[in-house]
Amino acid sequence: MQIHTTIESLRAARARAGRVALVPTMGNLHDGHIALMRQAGEHADSVIASIFVNRLQFGPSEDFDKYPRTLESDCEKLEAAGVKHLFAPTEKVMYPQIQHYHVDPAPAQVSILDGEFRPGHFRGVATVVLKLLNIVQPDLALFGKKDYQQLMVLSNMVRELALPVEVVPGETVRAADGLALSSRNGYLSAEQRAEAPLLYSLLTRIREAVRAGDHDFLKLETEAMNTLTERGWKPDYVAIRHRADLQPPVHTCDPLVVLAAARLGATRLIDNLEI
Ligand code: PAF
Repeated sequence: MQIHTTIESLRAARARAGRVALVPTMGNLHDGHIALMRQAGEHADSVIASIFVNRLQFGPSEDFDKYPRTLESDCEKLEAAGVKHLFAPTEKVMYPQIQHYHVDPAPAQVSILDGEFRPGHFRGVATVVLKLLNIVQPDLALFGKKDYQQLMVLSNMVRELALPVEVVPGETVRAADGLALSSRNGYLSAEQRAEAPLLYSLLTRIREAVRAGDHDFLKLETEAMNTLTERGWKPDYVAIRHRADLQPPVHTCDPLVVLAAARLGATRLIDNLEI
């Protein structure tokens, strides 16, 4: 695998790489990322992974400084997954000066759910992803469904700005006990790790209830929020939403998704399940 730290080197390699699939990441790779790399390989001649911990998408009290940076082991995993090129720019390469131009996603899409609790987060994500797409110019780009709202924001950005790239979603990969894989799971103590699958089991319970015909969404959401609070979590939201725009559902026959975010100790976990 070739590691490119400059835009020039990456672009020169990209020009010879045929049909390219980009998998943008912030590193600390787990099996969920690797599944995306393998899926990418099925659609393209070459997979380009990127690793960049993007300061712009972290709030002032968030975990930018302590976000795990594990380049060496990430490279081993990427090699094993058959990735040909890694773009691992420094901060100076991505942001040589203060970034004055940003992508502002539609307020209706980023004032809700995670956007409500992480102001500016999706602006930072959309800005860095537009920049990565411009640098790499891939034919397709893959993003996991674990970050469901991120996937929606980025798909809409690509469509509304007519970017010449296809967005391909990847399924969430889970541990055997149901916990969605995430780089932030590494922050959990052994006790918290044993408690963490509760989030998935509550989402599963809601999915089964809705599938069985229970359409009292407010009751289902409130019950799950209460269970999380009783078990010592600090939930931000549990919300049954329309899949396409993540707004509250108007018709119960619409394709739905249930999303949740909650803090377990100092660690904020998010998850979702399509219903
Ligand atoms: O999902 C992530 O890891 C990040 O938000 C992304 C898409 C790589 C942008 O920094």
